[in-house]
Amino acid sequence: MRRWLRIRPDLEDLSHAVAAAMLEVVTAAAADHGHCSIALAGGATPRQLYQLLATRYSKEMPWRHLRFFFGDERYVPADDPRSNYRMFKEALLDRLHLAPTLVYPMPTVDTDYREAALMYEATLREHFEGYLPRFDLVLLGLGEDGHTASLFPGSAVLDETVRWVAPSLAPEEPQRRMTLTYPVINHAANVFFLVSGQRKAGALRRALQDGADPMEAPAAAVRPTNGELVWWVDEAAATHVRFPPKE
Ligand code: 6PG
Repeated sequence: MRRWLRIRPDLEDLSHAVAAAMLEVVTAAAADHGHCSIALAGGATPRQLYQLLATRYSKEMPWRHLRFFFGDERYVPADDPRSNYRMFKEALLDRLHLAPTLVYPMPTVDTDYREAALMYEATLREHFEGYLPRFDLVLLGLGEDGHTASLFPGSAVLDETVRWVAPSLAPEEPQRRMTLTYPVINHAANVFFLVSGQRKAGALRRALQDGADPMEAPAAAVRPTNGELVWWVDEAAATHVRFPPKE
């Protein structure tokens, strides 16, 4: 694994830098194997990035080669304001009208969230032809408590080594979630963390510390076995980060 720390002045500059880096990853993947599978981050931080992809970078993106999946989802209806799918739909899909076949939301109705996790794993199995998914890019956020996707401190899902998608309980509402597990995340070709704001400074410092305990800092255990890990952060989030100078 190669690990990079990229610091940008603020969220806007960070979002532009990540969009440009995504364009490089997507273009290379499409040239190499004809398509690019991306697992999307939820929460609020990536919204500006998704909006930029749909506007400033939309003409350069080879949309027909892209397949969008979700790294995690809250178990709420797709039109619920807390839905990660809804955030992506508002930021990007509603601007681009992509073919529905390019986007694979996690199911959040007509079943139990544990059953829904199994259903999504089946979707991945079909798309990746039964092999452990190797996403060309996994986008991740970082919670103040050190969680990423829906891998929360102290939760059993941190020890999951077989399942690709697992149910998870968040410490706050909406508690019922589904998440990609470490086996899938750490099999990715590229993992980009997107971290912004002073509130994340402590979690970022802990996640970057050598020897960090994944039970306390789940993001620290994101270490793609044969891939690139890039921490894309803004200066406010990097307040407590001591190592390498900016690139
Ligand atoms: C979610 C996300 C979660 C998120 C972090 C950061 O469903 O909430 O997947 O892991 O990335 O909680 O969220 P913010 O970007 O809103 O700070």
